[in-house]
Amino acid sequence: MGVGIVEEKWFDILVCPQCRGRTRVQKGSIDCTACNRAYPIIKGIPNLLIGDSPQVAKRVASERELYQRMHLASSSPSLEIWNASKERTRSIILRYAKDMACKTILYLGSGRDDLHLAFDSRETKFVNVDIVFEALDELHAQGARYCVCCDARDLPFVEDSFDMILCIDILHHLFADDLPQIIARLAGVLRKQGVIVIQEPNKYALLRLPICWVPHRMRLFLRNVKMRLSNRPVGPAPHESPLSAGQLISLLRRFGIECLDRPICLEYPGSRWLTAMFRRLPRILFTIPRMFGYHFVIAGVRAPVET
Ligand SMILES: C[S@@+](CC[C@H](N)C(=O)[O-])C[C@H]1O[C@@H](n2cnc3c(N)ncnc32)[C@H](O)[C@@H]1O
Ligand SMILES: [Zn+2]
Repeated sequence: MGVGIVEEKWFDILVCPQCRGRTRVQKGSIDCTACNRAYPIIKGIPNLLIGDSPQVAKRVASERELYQRMHLASSSPSLEIWNASKERTRSIILRYAKDMACKTILYLGSGRDDLHLAFDSRETKFVNVDIVFEALDELHAQGARYCVCCDARDLPFVEDSFDMILCIDILHHLFADDLPQIIARLAGVLRKQGVIVIQEPNKYALLRLPICWVPHRMRLFLRNVKMRLSNRPVGPAPHESPLSAGQLISLLRRFGIECLDRPICLEYPGSRWLTAMFRRLPRILFTIPRMFGYHFVIAGVRAPVET
């Protein structure tokens, strides 16, 4: 498929994922002007995965498998709770996008979430990014203009490109050791005073206790056994490892992103009154309300000057 004028123009925010050199569009591929690597544009979607790395190939395979399983699960109680959480997160995102007049948005790990539809594509450059090409292909077919297939570890964007970055349920899919590098890169591509909104599963949710205290490897083993026994179509990503809100806040702070507010707790449906009740109790019980949250949302802002 040929590359249209509109596509070519927005490709100028792309850099080489390996050497961060500038790129140019050439006969259906994006070429690095520094190291000469070429990345294909497939069905209008730049594919900037570093294809020769076995680690990336393994990661793509496991995420693709999860994506296909999620496709099969049309309904389940946890999917319903997840969708309800996402509805609230959407309204938080839309409020920040409006308040901060965001014009360029990066949605990291978009999967096939159609959040781009909430924005006018002529006014807002809403860039969907995922490691699974099929998910982006689906979004692109539905009219999402800006899609980039790449790995969160090697984000191929020019520094200071985005007013807003969204990470909805992606960080726990990444290896904990890679997170500092990924957050540093996100902070780099976010403009100063740009906003980042992150939704993550609540590590300390009531239904996840006492599993959150079990060592990581043992937890993955138990989850995989449980998934096999119950024959459920949706299971954990092999490297899934929820972070606590506190861990995430300090990680963001390390890279110059300050939280705008306290983490927002997305309660289990019907348990909002319970959270509100515990909030009124003495501070000693402050840990209890967070157990009613299935997910939490954090919004942070990049410091106006380097810290
Ligand atoms: C749980 S899904 C969430 C999808 C979407 N944000 C939503 O709320 O519907 C996690 C997404 O992160 C993507 N992902 C996982 N690891 C990634 C990586 N290293 N780089 C880019 N995307 C990744 C997966 O392919 C998947 O689409
Ligand atoms: Zn290069």
